[in-house]
Amino acid sequence: MRFYLTTPIYYVNSTPHIGHAYTTAIGDMIVRHRRQRGDETFYLTGVDEHATKVWRVAHEQGLEAQEYVDRIAVPWRELPRRLNASTDFFIRTSDDGHKRFVREFLQRMYDNGDVYQDVYSGLYCVGCEAFKTEDELTPDGLCPDHLIPPERIEETNYFFRLSAYQDRLLALYDERPEFVRPDFRYNEARSFIAAGLRDFSISRAGQPWGIPLPWDEGQVAYVWADALINYVSALTYAREGQDLRQRFWPVVHHLLAKDILRFHCVYWPAMLLSAGYEPPQQLFVHGYLLLDDRKISKSLGNIVEPLQLIDVYGADAVRFWMARAVSFGQDGSASVDGVRERYESELANDLGNLLSRTTAMVARYRDGKLARGAADPPFDLDALNRDMAERFDRFDITGALEAAWQGVRRLNQYAGAEAPWHLAKDTSQAARLDGVLYNLVDGLTALAVALASFLPETAPKILVALRQSEDLSWGRVRNGVAEEVGGIAAAQPLFPRIELPTAAA
Ligand code: MSP
Repeated sequence: MRFYLTTPIYYVNSTPHIGHAYTTAIGDMIVRHRRQRGDETFYLTGVDEHATKVWRVAHEQGLEAQEYVDRIAVPWRELPRRLNASTDFFIRTSDDGHKRFVREFLQRMYDNGDVYQDVYSGLYCVGCEAFKTEDELTPDGLCPDHLIPPERIEETNYFFRLSAYQDRLLALYDERPEFVRPDFRYNEARSFIAAGLRDFSISRAGQPWGIPLPWDEGQVAYVWADALINYVSALTYAREGQDLRQRFWPVVHHLLAKDILRFHCVYWPAMLLSAGYEPPQQLFVHGYLLLDDRKISKSLGNIVEPLQLIDVYGADAVRFWMARAVSFGQDGSASVDGVRERYESELANDLGNLLSRTTAMVARYRDGKLARGAADPPFDLDALNRDMAERFDRFDITGALEAAWQGVRRLNQYAGAEAPWHLAKDTSQAARLDGVLYNLVDGLTALAVALASFLPETAPKILVALRQSEDLSWGRVRNGVAEEVGGIAAAQPLFPRIELPTAAA
């Protein structure tokens, strides 16, 4: 199976924040999981540079737009790296390969008769980079998302005949009830289409920054018409000499939040149909991760910038918190203090201590040697395998992690209930002691594999401590996966205590 996943490409009018990190991190969990299942994957992220708001920030800083985006691309490129996200390509819309492809793509829409010239007279919100109608504004005439008044513009530009695609889009939605997930987002997108579609401008006149239209160099592509195309353009130049479209289009899944649903679930499939491409396989629209707005948190010392959490707690702890803090798909508010709380109580305590106890007991009672012994496994890891895979397929990332975590808790209860420290005192219980220790190592081995997409740094550490293969194939989430090995020694803490940096005097 092939699996291509994208994040939105983020605006570079400022540096990344935790919300951008959220989509990139969760996308990485999905892609890593697919890879564990043996899929051939491609994970794309990147930045959206041709926005008016980007040009304005550059201008305010006295920089040429290109110079500005070249500078700010650096922290953006670092974002996936800091999160330990296994992205395959980082696209910038000012890449030559992208610019060339956008011109080709728009030319195809034009040649198909879907583009015409007209006057746009109306409102534009630079925050959304979107054309607005009066009825989309608050009663005071503000953009509801940015709480700023939209600008009034009047210009002759090029329109895309979106209205002509209404029936085809409805047919697409009806044929593919899984096209947009979750359900309520599918309904939202479908109702928007059913209510009637208006043509929209795909170019802007008199703009200093953007990709010139091939048939009218005096106009640049509207930033969304430019940006959406990245999902295909990247495949044409990410690997020199290869056209990845044959492998990864249309097996693409787009990940995005609800703010940009309409562009992705309505405009984009229509643009693809117009240019002669298949629509994407699926779009998953998630909610917002809302942070408590305390700038300085009580338990986190002077960590003001949420992304700094990664420097202190590591990428695994931040990823873990993101997947657990709110149910993925829904909106939810979370506290950045939760990173520390979950680090201590769940990662260090539930998982870290389980590994320390298990390895210490094998070292102490069996001289580091693991034997299968005689004891029934405490729970069905094959069922966990199926349950998690099925949840991942539904993008129930929070549920998949919770299922694995219940396994961690069950294993801890098992250790407590079986009390190997008592068994060790009774030689008639030797086979049982072996069996219990085996089940602990076996359970931890399978759970390390099950958790690897969430905790990519931690999972291999667990496998190494247990002297088990580092193979992360999904088939290894099963009972009886652990090999009888020797040399298990008491492991170092997986999640050591962290002293917080103190505020500078
Ligand atoms: N440039 C456009 C996207 C073009 S894609 C062809 C854009 N950029 S953005 O920088 O505003 O990023 C929006 C996306 O960032 C959201 O759709 C979501 O993926 C992510 N998020 C930003 N803040 C977020 C939260 N607070 N919570 C969850 N996701 C967040 O729109």
